[in-house]
Amino acid sequence: MVRRILLAIVLILVIGAAIFVALGWKPAIAPVDRPQASAFKPEVLSRGAQLAALGDCTVCHTAPGGRPFAGGLAVETPFGTIHSTDITPDPETGIGRWSEAAFKRAMREGVSRDGHHLYPAFPYDHFTRTKDEDISAIYAFLMTRQPVSAKAPANDLPFPLNVRFILTGWNLLFLHRDPVADDPSQPEAWNRGKYLVESLGHCGACHTPRNALGAEKRAHAFAGGVADRWTAPALDGASPAPVPWTQESLFTYLKTGFETQHSFAAGPMAPVVSDLRAVSDDDVQAISVYIASLMGPVPPPRQQEGQRAVEMATQAGLGFTRGAPDQSRDEPGAALYASACGWCHYNADSKGSSFASRQKLGLGSVSSMPDPSNLIHVILEGIPPVEGEATPIMPGFAGSFTDRQVADLANYARAHFSTRPAWKNVDDAVKAIRSGKDIDRSASRP
Ligand code: HEC
Ligand code: HEC
Ligand code: HEC
Repeated sequence: MVRRILLAIVLILVIGAAIFVALGWKPAIAPVDRPQASAFKPEVLSRGAQLAALGDCTVCHTAPGGRPFAGGLAVETPFGTIHSTDITPDPETGIGRWSEAAFKRAMREGVSRDGHHLYPAFPYDHFTRTKDEDISAIYAFLMTRQPVSAKAPANDLPFPLNVRFILTGWNLLFLHRDPVADDPSQPEAWNRGKYLVESLGHCGACHTPRNALGAEKRAHAFAGGVADRWTAPALDGASPAPVPWTQESLFTYLKTGFETQHSFAAGPMAPVVSDLRAVSDDDVQAISVYIASLMGPVPPPRQQEGQRAVEMATQAGLGFTRGAPDQSRDEPGAALYASACGWCHYNADSKGSSFASRQKLGLGSVSSMPDPSNLIHVILEGIPPVEGEATPIMPGFAGSFTDRQVADLANYARAHFSTRPAWKNVDDAVKAIRSGKDIDRSASRP
């Protein structure tokens, strides 16, 4: 009896393994000669350029100081470091010998031309939902770039994660290849926006929380996630913005990186916004329509809270949401704020130099988020200039402040630029971020 049960278990395991291998094994797709540039229509190429910008292909496929699309960027994940690879049409290190079918399979199934599985650090779980003609346009655009020979450094992943075949299991569990369905009851712009957000825009890759296996929790889409140790705020009804976002303010933020009654797009959101400049106004407008709908209708009390924040924050240009500091109270962050931040941020209406801040801190989301990570990042790292663009600059204070001082400032900002209760364990959060680690988000929530 025992032997029969054992035999049955072994049989089930063997059949299971065979099915797993059959599902996961992907053949190589034969190499082709690189198509001539003349094979592609100019309008397809210009659409491909816009779609590649929306997909942030250069953001991940360009190493610091490296050539665009040549790969080599270290993408940090909770599981280890994965390097992006060369997607210029170089025949050896790039995709120069890939047919359009091979490119489509990579985008849809996360499988390289030679048949090896790709890690979902490459957001194929979103790109899989891209329409055929849009993938073709990106293929045309990439095939007509300058080839660059660049071999990506080896990945740093522990066993068994370094065995790519296990991604078969991940794909079976988490890869949903359903196209983005139109909702006929919604306007055209909403449907277009939904498609762009869910597919190439891959906004959920950062703004949706992930499970222990690194897949997005579909049931909590846009409830707020993590990107490169920053918090990507909720874009649903839990949005931390002191003033509720509207379609118009979202459009301005996404198109310019700044909106007067909201935030500045810093950290990992900065390159997203830089890329959206290349995307047509109509498409960014459609994205704004869809995101605004995710946030839902604004209940009257929240509307009034927002109005009050604007009134308070614009009084004498001070930017406070909960009142200016009370001189009689001994607040450790107050003097630091006045000397290190105030000269730019008190005077929030100043214009002119790229150092002049337009940011009324009480209207931005950073001090109102559930955890202090983004505020600490901004204090330590500042806002660096973007090469080749006339962008605002804020100095970083990592070299001038102790951990204690950064924590005092963060607590001070929470107390005056937000109406939410104090964060917990801010000291630990500062230490973590300074040493290049992520913070314990659940320990810092009020
Ligand atoms: C969030 C970062 C990220 C973004 C955005 C991104 N990629 Fe990648 N991509 C990667 C990483 C990392 C790899 C390597 C994965 C691996 O080796 O398993 C990769 C691999 C690829 C590959 C496979 C190349 C090969 O030789 O196997 C292709 C093709 C590709 N990306 C195309 C694109 C395109 C097109 C876009 C824009 C629409 C894009 N990627 C956007 C991170 C990204
Ligand atoms: C690489 C990760 C990443 C991607 C991809 C990304 N975001 Fe973000 N986003 C962030 C981070 C991080 C912030 C916070 C920035 C800050 O604190 O200055 C942010 C901020 C925002 C904000 C401001 C929210 C607030 O309350 O202040 C909006 C709106 C937004 N993102 C929309 C989008 C949309 C739409 C897309 C897709 C087109 C997108 N994001 C893609 C990481 C990302
Ligand atoms: C030299 C001027 C300058 C100083 C000093 C300065 N800032 Fe800034 N800050 C800026 C600029 C410029 C921006 C970008 C937004 C804008 O254009 O106003 C900004 C943006 C911010 C933001 C918004 C970031 C986001 O993601 O939304 C925060 C928070 C902030 N500063 C906090 C501080 C704190 C705290 C200090 C003091 C430790 C400080 N700043 C000192 C110029 C300055």
